[in-house]
Amino acid sequence: MDAPTTTPADNGTPGGGGGWFTPRTQPTTAQSSEPETAEGSRLAAMRPVGRPRAGAEENPPVRQDTSPPVAQEAAPPEIPVQPTPSTPPPPPEPRVPVQRPAPARQASPDAVLVRRTMAEVGPVADKVTSYFYALLFVRHPDLRPMFPAAMDTQRDRLLKALLTAAEHIDNTEVLVAYLQNLGRGHRKYGTRPEHYPAVGECLIGALSKYASAVWDAETEAAWVRTYTTISQVMIDAAAADELRAPAWWYAEVVAHDLRTPDVAVVTVRPDQPYPFLAGQYTSLETPWWPRIWRHYSFASAPRSDGLLSFHVKALPAGWVSNALVHRARPGDILRLGPPAGSMTVDHTTDSGLLCLGGGTGIAPIKALVEDVAEHGERRPVEVFYGARSDHDLYDIDTMLRLRQSHPWLEVRPVVDRHGLVQLPDAIREFGPWDEYDAYVSGPPGMIRSGVDVLRDIGVPSERIRHDALEELVTAGS
Ligand SMILES: Cc1cc2nc3c(=O)[nH]c(=O)nc-3n(C[C@H](O)[C@H](O)[C@H](O)COP(=O)(O)OP(=O)(O)OC[C@H]3O[C@@H](n4cnc5c(N)ncnc54)[C@H](O)[C@@H]3O)c2cc1C
Ligand code: HEM
Repeated sequence: MDAPTTTPADNGTPGGGGGWFTPRTQPTTAQSSEPETAEGSRLAAMRPVGRPRAGAEENPPVRQDTSPPVAQEAAPPEIPVQPTPSTPPPPPEPRVPVQRPAPARQASPDAVLVRRTMAEVGPVADKVTSYFYALLFVRHPDLRPMFPAAMDTQRDRLLKALLTAAEHIDNTEVLVAYLQNLGRGHRKYGTRPEHYPAVGECLIGALSKYASAVWDAETEAAWVRTYTTISQVMIDAAAADELRAPAWWYAEVVAHDLRTPDVAVVTVRPDQPYPFLAGQYTSLETPWWPRIWRHYSFASAPRSDGLLSFHVKALPAGWVSNALVHRARPGDILRLGPPAGSMTVDHTTDSGLLCLGGGTGIAPIKALVEDVAEHGERRPVEVFYGARSDHDLYDIDTMLRLRQSHPWLEVRPVVDRHGLVQLPDAIREFGPWDEYDAYVSGPPGMIRSGVDVLRDIGVPSERIRHDALEELVTAGS
């Protein structure tokens, strides 16, 4: 690996894998010389260290480091990135643009082996996913109730994220920010440290079956180290989060406003204060589809009454979106996960904001505008609001009202009539955008083309922020 082999986390103990993060569960020399295919040794090697919770004593996480437990509890999550000058409290979400390219460096030996496996399983990813879940639920039936009853639509997310994280294991800064967020978000599923070895064991079971042509003891050892690293970051982030936030919030629907036949503005009151930043999103579960969580962006900056609003578009046959648009009514109780996302305003600069919002993607853009207004700054904000028809510009009145109150704000509706005018094309007509940070929000296709155009016209990648696409999948690309 490219980072120092001795990090604060590895206590200088040799044989810890030589990575940027050495799990505190050190495989002993004897263990690592045993055949790596033995399931027992996989499990032992993959057991990351968690903080004990009430009720978790019967399967206590293995702890082999010598640091005092109290110090561990009080410490912030260990972030094995570049040394930081001092340790102010971390922001709610690290400001790492998801699309930041990986620095050009030589891949570590583990990354090379991991990527070789990935190339092998890529064409049969569906089979790997099915086999992974089959293994998980057959070997660990107690974990099945944590997952949605029907696992068809987005069931590949866990495995995809795991594989992508493993592939980007050298891109520490982006990866750690992503995994910390993921670890915090896993609290709402009831995930505990002792569940991680089970998932790791089944991941390796599935990979070894479908990458048999390249699988050997060395590859397996690389995956064990990589998985241990990934899970330790998630576990630590979840443990730190436990000290300051609930695993989820209940939220009562207090208003439901159908703006078009398929777009609703849903306003909820959380059962306890819900801190977030304008531009972020949350995960949401409805009472009708238990354990099915989807992401929705906050449509306003934090309000003094504590209410949260979302703009939801019902997709054809979409489970959660249809429930929210066509079924939810005041009085219904939803569940919310923690806030996430780095598409937030940097108040330490006075650069302008170039905002591209497509469809319900206008919701977080409106939140950003409110955020700038509340900070009393007079920075130029240019909003391009794209939709397929005039009818789909369901929030244009709100945006135009905001423009009337704020001379620094410009709002340009862009209607894609018969595919002739595209939102990204409109950006090229205006500008220059040298002094602007760009924010892109909307359906994945629109984000992709928006980001492409922005890069094309010379906006540097680090000045472009957007909602998660396939989240980490775009990191380093
Ligand atoms: C960061 C982020 C922020 C977001 N913010 C918003 C927001 O503010 N507002 C908003 O409306 N959305 C937002 N989304 C999208 C949202 O999270 C959901 O993906 C969306 O609402 C669809 O969820 P669903 O459960 O209704 O659809 P799903 O059930 O997940 O289905 C999605 C689509 O796939 C199709 N489909 C489902 N199953 C299959 C299958 N087996 N084979 C083929 N096709 C299938 C469905 O017909 C549907 O069209 C955001 C997404 C992200 C990542
Ligand atoms: C390194 C390990 C893991 C990674 C990278 C990972 C990643 C993911 C991702 C990306 C999702 C999609 C939704 C989201 O973003 O929250 C997800 C969902 C989920 N994960 Fe994990 N996960 C890991 C370990 C675990 C473990 C140990 C458990 C506990 C058994 C678990 C349980 C779940 C559940 C219940 C869901 C929701 C299922 C769904 O929406 O289909 N995960 N995971």
